[in-house]
Amino acid sequence: MAESWTPDSWRAKPAKHLPDYPDAAALASVESRLRSYPPLVFAGEARKLKSDLAEVCEGRAFLLQGGDCAESFAEFSADNIRDTFRVLLQMAVALTFASATPVVKVGRIAGQFAKPRSSPVETIDGVTLPSYLGDNINGIEFDAVQRVPDPERLLRAYSQSASTLNLIRAFATGGYADLDFVHRWNLGFVANSPEGERYEELANRITEALDFMRACGIDSETQPQLRTTEFYTSHEALLLGFEQSMTRIDSTTGDWYDTSAHMLWIGDRTRQPDHAHVEFLRGVKNPIGLKCGPSLDPEELIRLTDILNPANEPGRLTLICRFGYDKVEDHLPQLIRAIKREGKKVVWSSDPMHGNTIKASSGYKTRPVDRVLKEVQSFMAVHRAEGTHAGGVHFEMTGQNVTECIGGAQAISETELGDRYHTHCDPRLNASQALELAFLLAEGLKAERMEVRKKELAAAGVGFR
Ligand code: PEP
Ligand code: CO
Repeated sequence: MAESWTPDSWRAKPAKHLPDYPDAAALASVESRLRSYPPLVFAGEARKLKSDLAEVCEGRAFLLQGGDCAESFAEFSADNIRDTFRVLLQMAVALTFASATPVVKVGRIAGQFAKPRSSPVETIDGVTLPSYLGDNINGIEFDAVQRVPDPERLLRAYSQSASTLNLIRAFATGGYADLDFVHRWNLGFVANSPEGERYEELANRITEALDFMRACGIDSETQPQLRTTEFYTSHEALLLGFEQSMTRIDSTTGDWYDTSAHMLWIGDRTRQPDHAHVEFLRGVKNPIGLKCGPSLDPEELIRLTDILNPANEPGRLTLICRFGYDKVEDHLPQLIRAIKREGKKVVWSSDPMHGNTIKASSGYKTRPVDRVLKEVQSFMAVHRAEGTHAGGVHFEMTGQNVTECIGGAQAISETELGDRYHTHCDPRLNASQALELAFLLAEGLKAERMEVRKKELAAAGVGFR
């Protein structure tokens, strides 16, 4: 019998990566104010995402989850939000076209602030200060006052998340996502890159298909799904006090939902089965993710799936694998086999970013795009060999023309990293690099689709060339 759960039962457990607030009373006061604030998302939307993810789990859809490593107060602007949204739409279109299956779009956005750090302190020129933990906790400036965790920042992050979500909802349903505008999403610096040109060709084919459908009487006037899109939000549920404040009972079902985002995930550093983060997320009914790094063994994974998804509900749990480009084959097959053996329903997703971070000789943290692509390819190849669905991808990107990841078609060199290195935490794919990833995935999904069709035709006794 599982222990009873309450929104604050995590407080009795050991917790890693939670900040030390010097003023407990100020924190309690902010958390109490947050409890009275409106939810950012509705439980019904989280349930819809869960049912969309159940389709991914059954192999009938693909999950595209991406956005910032860490949102920041400084980079908060309508243009940034639009450009992230736009690139995710471009990626989704490429994937839908290739796979001929629905793509579930989830942003790392509207709440992705708090970061677990490899070291609690940072030393520069002999001065040691607490590490930067995300704009909702402390300031990035290397300054003793800025680095003190300040609860008031939670209110600013809440308000930024609400405005971001408001704009995203407007983009998703107010006309910007209309498929008739598929060409317009390819703006700015991307349009002139090889990926932009490739996208343009794809957009032409989509426009042709839409023209054909229009001639048959099907257009965005008659079919609202051509005019709007569904877009969900997600972030790492790291800062449990904030998450608890946003956790409310859904009046329709009587269940608890964390209304700070549609989907929440547990980071690779906070997934201890008897610790606070797992305790908190086991009790909310949102779809949840679990980061799976190289230190996770099959027995522990099964233990975690038992705790986090005791009813074995498809769509509830997404396993986000982040091993490193050269470690996928060492770790993924045994996890897949354990999950299959135990009959667990999960979505398999690949995070090709967090196992591939290196330090350039210039000192910048970077990620070689080739390794990012290689990790995704290995992930898909292992799933093909195991007969399971490579269900999704989870990545860090921005719609801006940054120079944070090296290599790829754009061939950004180590010496160019300093040109436009803006991230507040990990290096992100820029818009062209994100499209490059999408086209690679599209090829893999198309191959998977052809394989399935070949089998279906063979079963029906029809030859296939
Ligand atoms: C992240 O997703 O930003 C992150 C910190 O990942 P992980 O928990 O996999 O290291
Ligand atoms: Co990151």
